[in-house]
Amino acid sequence: MTTLSAPTHSPTDSRTVDALLSRYDEVRSYTEVLSAPLSPEDQTVQSMADVSPTKWHRAHVTWFFETFVLAEQERNFAPYQDKYWFLFNSYYEAVGPRYARAERGHISRPGAHDVGTYRGNVDARMRDLIDTLDPGALEQLASTIELGFNHEQQHQELLLMDIKHVLSANPLQPAYAGTPAPICDPDRLGWVDVEGGLVEVGHEGGGFCFDNELPPHRVYLEPYRLGDRLITNGEWLEFMADGGYDRAGLWLSDGWGRVQREGWQAPFYWQQLDGIWFEHTLHGTFPVNPGVPVTHLSHYEADAFASWAGKRLPTEQEWEHAARTLLGEPNDSANLADSQTFHARPAPPASGGLRQMYGDCWEWTSSAYLAYPGFHPAEGAIGEYNGKFMSGQMVLRGGCALTPPGHARASYRNFFPAGARWPMTGLRLAEGAAK
Ligand SMILES: [Fe+2]
Repeated sequence: MTTLSAPTHSPTDSRTVDALLSRYDEVRSYTEVLSAPLSPEDQTVQSMADVSPTKWHRAHVTWFFETFVLAEQERNFAPYQDKYWFLFNSYYEAVGPRYARAERGHISRPGAHDVGTYRGNVDARMRDLIDTLDPGALEQLASTIELGFNHEQQHQELLLMDIKHVLSANPLQPAYAGTPAPICDPDRLGWVDVEGGLVEVGHEGGGFCFDNELPPHRVYLEPYRLGDRLITNGEWLEFMADGGYDRAGLWLSDGWGRVQREGWQAPFYWQQLDGIWFEHTLHGTFPVNPGVPVTHLSHYEADAFASWAGKRLPTEQEWEHAARTLLGEPNDSANLADSQTFHARPAPPASGGLRQMYGDCWEWTSSAYLAYPGFHPAEGAIGEYNGKFMSGQMVLRGGCALTPPGHARASYRNFFPAGARWPMTGLRLAEGAAK
C-alpha cells in the first residue's frame, strides 16, 4: 500500500500571519502528495467531459490564488503566463472567456512538471504577500485566502474522483493506492429515531463555511427515523436480483429514461465477468464485497432503491439535524482521505447510534439544491462560487473516503445533478416515525 501523508490538523480560522502561512503550506502540499503517485501521462488524460486532468486541477487551484488574491493585492502584479487566465479559469464569467471544459485533455503543454513550476511561483508570491501585508489588509484578504484553501480541498477530492475514472478506462486496470477491505457480509440494518420539531439548520458560530450554508434558519421536521448505516453492496445485489433495474414502477420518470437510454444494470463501476460482479476502485478491480457500502450511484438509483425497500431518502434538513444533535462534528474515526482507504469501508459494529454519517460515501438526499431563506451570494466573481448552480441539482451530505480531513461538517452542502454517477455517492434510508 502506498502511504500518503495527510494534514494532521486543519484549523478553520487562520487569520494570524503564522497560522495563515502554515495552513497555506499544509493545504497546498497535500495536493502535491495526492498527485505524487501519478505520472505526467496519468495527469494529462481526460476520460470524459465531467472529468478534468490531474494537472488541470493542480493548475486551476493555483490560478484561483493568482486571480483572486495576487491580482488584487500584489504590488506590480504581472500574470505568471499571459494565457493561463484563459486555460485555467473554470466557470467564472466575470473573469472572462475560458478554454472548453470538455477539451482540457487536449492540452499537452504546460506539462505536469511545468504546472509544478507554476505552483511554486505562485506559492512564493503568496507567502511573500501574506508576510508583508499590513494587518488591516491581511484581515480583509483572509476570507478570500481561506476560500482558496477550501476550494483547493474540493479539488483534492475531485482530483481523486477523476483519476478513478481515468484509470478505470484503462484495460490494464491500474491501481492508484490503498488496499481493499476484507470480504464480509453486512450486519443487520438498525434504525435511529429522531424527535424533530422546530430545529435550527445552517452554519453557525466561528470557522469557515461556504455561502450556501448560510444563513442559519429554522425548519419544522415531523418525527422521523434514519437507517443507522449506509446501504451495502449486499443489499444492492438483492435489489438487482429482485429486478430493481427492470421495474419502471420503482423509478422517477427521468431516472427510468436514463436506465433505458444508457442501459444501467448495476452501479457505475461494476462489471460482470463470468457471472461474477467486479468493482473498480482506486486500489484496483476486485469482486464486489457485500459488506461494503454501495457507491457511485445516481440520485435516481438511490431513490429507486428506497422505493423498493418501502422507505425514502432523508431530506437534507433531517440529515443535518440528526448529525448535529446526535453526533456533533466529524472526529478522527470518519473514513475520509487521511485514512488512506480511498474507498468506503464496512460499518463499525452497531452501537445503537448513527454510523457512517461522515466519510465513506456522499449521501444523496431528497432535497433539491436551493438557496436558504435570506441567502446572498458574495459581490463580484467570487459570488459565482455556489449560487449560480442552484438549479437542477440535488444535495448530498456527509463527505466520502476521498474528502480531505477538515473538509466535512454537519452543515456542508454538496450538490450534483440527479444523473451523476462518477462522484463517490451512496445512500442511507429514512422513514417517518410510527404514529
Ligand atoms: Fe474550482
